[in-house]
Amino acid sequence: MTTATPTAPAQPHAAPAASGASTIESVLVENRVFPPPARARDGARVAGIEAYRALRQEAESDPDAFWATRARELLTWDTPFTRTLDDSDPPFFRWFDDGMLNASANCLDRHIGTPVEDKTAIVFEADDGAVTQVSYRELLERVGRFANALKAQGIGKGDRVIVYLPMTVEGVVAMQACARIGATHSVVFGGFSAKALQERIIDIGAVAVVTANFQKRGGKELPLKSIVDEALAMGGCDAVKTVLVYERTPTAWTRNDRDIPFGEALAGQSADCPPVPVEAEHPLFVLYTSGSTGKPKGVQHSTAGYLLWARMTMDWTFDLRPDDVFWCTADIGWITGHTYVAYGPLAAGATQVVFEGIPTYPNAGRFWQMIERHKVSIFYTAPTAIRSLIKAAEADAQSHPDRSDLSSLRILGTVGEPINPEAWMWYHKHVGGERCPVVDTFWQTETGGHVITPLPGATPLVPGSCTLPLPGIDAAIVDETGNELPDGTGGMLVIRKPWPSMIRTIWGDPERFKKSYFPAEMGGSVYLAGDGAVRSAGTAAMDGADRGYFRITGRIDDVLNISGHRMGTMEIESALVSKTDLVAEAAVVGRPDELTGEAICAFVVLKGPRPTGDAAKALAKELRDWVAKEIGPIAKPKDIRFGENLPKTRSGKIMRRLLRNIARGEAITQDTSTLENPAILEQLGEVN
Ligand code: WTA
Repeated sequence: MTTATPTAPAQPHAAPAASGASTIESVLVENRVFPPPARARDGARVAGIEAYRALRQEAESDPDAFWATRARELLTWDTPFTRTLDDSDPPFFRWFDDGMLNASANCLDRHIGTPVEDKTAIVFEADDGAVTQVSYRELLERVGRFANALKAQGIGKGDRVIVYLPMTVEGVVAMQACARIGATHSVVFGGFSAKALQERIIDIGAVAVVTANFQKRGGKELPLKSIVDEALAMGGCDAVKTVLVYERTPTAWTRNDRDIPFGEALAGQSADCPPVPVEAEHPLFVLYTSGSTGKPKGVQHSTAGYLLWARMTMDWTFDLRPDDVFWCTADIGWITGHTYVAYGPLAAGATQVVFEGIPTYPNAGRFWQMIERHKVSIFYTAPTAIRSLIKAAEADAQSHPDRSDLSSLRILGTVGEPINPEAWMWYHKHVGGERCPVVDTFWQTETGGHVITPLPGATPLVPGSCTLPLPGIDAAIVDETGNELPDGTGGMLVIRKPWPSMIRTIWGDPERFKKSYFPAEMGGSVYLAGDGAVRSAGTAAMDGADRGYFRITGRIDDVLNISGHRMGTMEIESALVSKTDLVAEAAVVGRPDELTGEAICAFVVLKGPRPTGDAAKALAKELRDWVAKEIGPIAKPKDIRFGENLPKTRSGKIMRRLLRNIARGEAITQDTSTLENPAILEQLGEVN
């Protein structure tokens, strides 16, 4: 391992792109490099960078053969496919589309009669520390019973089911049970509000909701079922005939006509439920995510292509081995919890940890203690969690990872946002003991699984870089018209060729799908990720070996990344102005935040006079609570600033770049002479 001293101070974020800019300035210089340690390289599926290059070459020279071979080997088919990629109607690409299979059968039944059958599938640690283990056979039985319970409610292939459950075995079982009968699930994160839930129930046309009476997090009981009731009472949800309720806590809850507690629904159900074969392109799930405009987008994924990717990246990115204990800390309400909790580890026959609680309860050493307790060998978490645990460890030695025996760890991973090099170094040193490769995996809800990531046995690592695209991922950096930019020049990240796990459409809105991701100016079949990125021109410290390494510089659209959670600025603005008795106008921008990556900063014009002092603070609180109610606590603005109006151009467009400068406390360089009311700049400087 060689570590060179950086020649220039590393900075966590590159200069942000001005909206619409075709190139993006890059300010980060990182010269530290970590080649794969022998321990990670020896016996790895992809061992050494040459092996990676060969695989990439193979995928490039004959993509159809490359994917067909893997789809046949890694998935079990009821009807084998004969066509690999159908690209006759871009961007509506179809993969393996005359084949039939079942995702749940591929995660569970596939292991029956193999040594995996009696292996532990899930080690569940509850919020209060209670641990339960479920074998693959037991999980199959639980999924079968739940699937029969869904069938008993008349739910079947093609129906949509909303899952609004905490991180529990039941959450995974509910998703798998839907897949088993061909129902499409749409999981809604337990932190979303009744309003957000109602919107999703309506958009997807759900016939059932699976929820819990309460969820337990950080020693607290938080209601879920009452939020479902509230959502359904808002109207438009008449298609929902059944609400299945997992009684997670003994606490009483209100039972309505359509409600059925799990106990009753499962009573007398057989554990045997034959999986329903579905077409390869059948929507396994729809997951809502933020876009730059309007309401959240229902990202629709396929069954075969998606599952292939989930399965395959367990091998590639995590180099999964039979005795590994895998732990991905993401909630099932996000894509990471879909691909690397509910599907990937199970399809790969891994033992995984599922954790109900939060990293700071009962103390900030919880993750490290759990790694020791369950002998976790692959640990996958978000940079925001790492940053907050660094802070906690510095404040309280008891919660330092050094206090736990982390020798079981083999591979570390991160996902969700750019990891700043200093956090990467801490993670590598204090959690990984300088022996574990850190895979910084770049991907999105829309990509289904990792697309740009190091391979632990192959790729020399550079802190802050997600390094190189997976084989078959034709990633590039381009300007607005799709021209590729030279290494060292920042631009927009695109993927030029289709890949099996890509988003298929936006549920119910194919036009928006085309417009959002496949801009006509780029030819209509190039996938636009919405992130800015830069490729390294090759550094001397690596003898140029890092040439072409990708570094993500952040979103180029109006999407914020708060603690790894995507939030559209438009959504938050809409929530603010929907408080019609108070708010006249609102603009939301992001600013860098040490802990959460980005923080939400809202500029608000009230209908009444501009408040100051305590009155302003009280109103700011009222607005924060309102946004929490409209979207969820994750969308609460950190800063709220009141102005008599907002800075606008002559054409009436809000000057967002100016607002970003103000939010960041930066000097204002734009021409402000056209502002109708220059005094507002001072007003907007006051944070509440
Ligand atoms: C960001 C999460 C830098 C990026 C899987 C992307 C990252 C958005 C990384 C998708 C990474 C994710 N480095 N940025 N390793 N991983 N992102 O849909 O901005 O919740 O577009 O999917 O997170 O967020 P999403």
